[in-house]
Amino acid sequence: MDETKVEIDGELVMRTIAMPADTNSNGDIFGGWVLSQMDLGGGIIAKSNSPAGRAVTVSIDSMSFINSIKVGDMVSCYAKLIHRGRTSMKIQIEAWTYSYTSQETKHVTQGIFTYVAIDADGKSCQLKPE
Ligand SMILES: CC(C)(COP(=O)(O)OP(=O)(O)OC[C@H]1O[C@@H](n2cnc3c(N)ncnc32)[C@H](O)[C@@H]1OP(=O)(O)O)[C@@H](O)C(=O)NCCC(=O)NCCS
Repeated sequence: MDETKVEIDGELVMRTIAMPADTNSNGDIFGGWVLSQMDLGGGIIAKSNSPAGRAVTVSIDSMSFINSIKVGDMVSCYAKLIHRGRTSMKIQIEAWTYSYTSQETKHVTQGIFTYVAIDADGKSCQLKPE
C-alpha cells in the first residue's frame, strides 16, 4: 500500500541531519533511530498538554516506514494531537526528508503514538484543559 503523502500535516517538532553513525547494515538510516526522533518530537506536544510538563509514551499504535532515509538528509518530524482522552493523547507523527544533493523532499514515515500525562510521582494525571 502506498502511503506516501504530498502534503505535510502537523507542526514542526524536530529537525536534524541523518548521520553515518545512525545507519543500518544496508547503509541507509536505521528505523529505530527515526522512530526515536518521532517519539521525541511527539513528546514535545505531549508535555505541553500535561499540567506537570511530564509525559510518557505508552504505545505505538501504528508505524509505517515508507521511504528510506539517506546519510546527509535533513530529517523533519511533524506532529499533531488527534485525540485527547482523560490522561492520554494520541499524536500523529510523520517524518519527511530533504536531500541536499537531489533537492527532493520525501515523506518517509508515519505513525500514531499514545502518550500519558504524568505528575511528579510518575502517576497518570488529567490533561490540561483545552
Ligand atoms: C503510563 C502509566 C503511568 C499509566 O499508568 P496507569 O495510570 O496505571 O494506567 P491506566 O490504565 O489508568 O491508563 C491511563 C491512560 O493511559 C491509557 N493507556 C494505558 N495503556 C495504554 C496502551 N497500552 N495503549 C493505549 N493507551 C493506554 C488508558 O487508556 C488511559 O487513558 P485515559 O486516561 O485517557 O482514559 C504507566 O503505565 C507507565 O508508567 N508506563 C511506562 C511508560 C514508559 O516508561 N514509557 C517509556 C518511556 S517514555
